[in-house]
Amino acid sequence: VRHLVGIKDLTESDINLILETAGQFKEVINRPIKKVPSLRDVTIANVFFENSTRTRLSFELAEKRLSADVVNFSASGSSVKKGETLLDTVNNILAMKVDMVVMRHSSPGAPHYLTKHIKANVVNAGDGTHEHPTQALLDSFSIREKLGDVAGKRIAIIGDITHSRVALSNIFCLQKQGADVMVCGPKTLIPKYIESLGVRVGHDVRAALAWCDVANVLRIQLERQQIKYFPSLREYSLYYGISRQMLDELDRPIVLMHPGPINRGVELTSDAADSPHSIILDQVENGVAVRMAVLYLLAQL
Ligand code: CP
Repeated sequence: VRHLVGIKDLTESDINLILETAGQFKEVINRPIKKVPSLRDVTIANVFFENSTRTRLSFELAEKRLSADVVNFSASGSSVKKGETLLDTVNNILAMKVDMVVMRHSSPGAPHYLTKHIKANVVNAGDGTHEHPTQALLDSFSIREKLGDVAGKRIAIIGDITHSRVALSNIFCLQKQGADVMVCGPKTLIPKYIESLGVRVGHDVRAALAWCDVANVLRIQLERQQIKYFPSLREYSLYYGISRQMLDELDRPIVLMHPGPINRGVELTSDAADSPHSIILDQVENGVAVRMAVLYLLAQL
């Protein structure tokens, strides 16, 4: 049984295979008949212990486009609230003859733990501050679609790096494809270990925008912060917030990305988020094809 727990475990050729397969599925889902019978006898449980809009709906649509049977589980409203453990919860779902588990959990390592204890395929839909592999894959798919290639491109990941699973998965995914990656944000939101991954580290958002081909802007994750937040949201938006004017004034156009949800008026002004620089909704569209590719390829193993 194979799993997708993190981008760290993938090779460049694994990434290429997933993104090329996603390209084929994107053609399929743009046809009048969007469904293919590829996973007709497969049952998939989407098990979400944390809130989600994009990832959850996107996995469900991907599964339905592949003709899989789908069940959805949210921790809120479930017997987790009565004290049932993660493993008991998942084993009870699997007893109903489920073949694959797509899981979001607030604890880093929770999907990896599952892979050691259950026989179904496990797909990580985000584990705490650790990895969000399908987000990084759909981000790379969107960069390839817009710029032709990831190799050689300068990508700045701007914002709350410390609390972001999107940052870590993107760093692995982009570097494996030959991109030059910078992380940019206040010192309090960039972990010390990040330099050991071979990324550039910057603290000046205007310099990062002038340097990059792509700016992937992240949200301040207040829900994960253990200590009183510094800088405040007001200070953050003053020193790191990106406006349409800042993008328009660059010497050359750059691509603006954001995994969502956006804190409008904090990391991005609305006129930047909704500008022609932005491919934010393309990222969301591409998430369905990328997740179809991941599920389809795992089912072949
Ligand atoms: N990008 C992302 O993971 O969004 P959700 O939290 O809404 O799934």
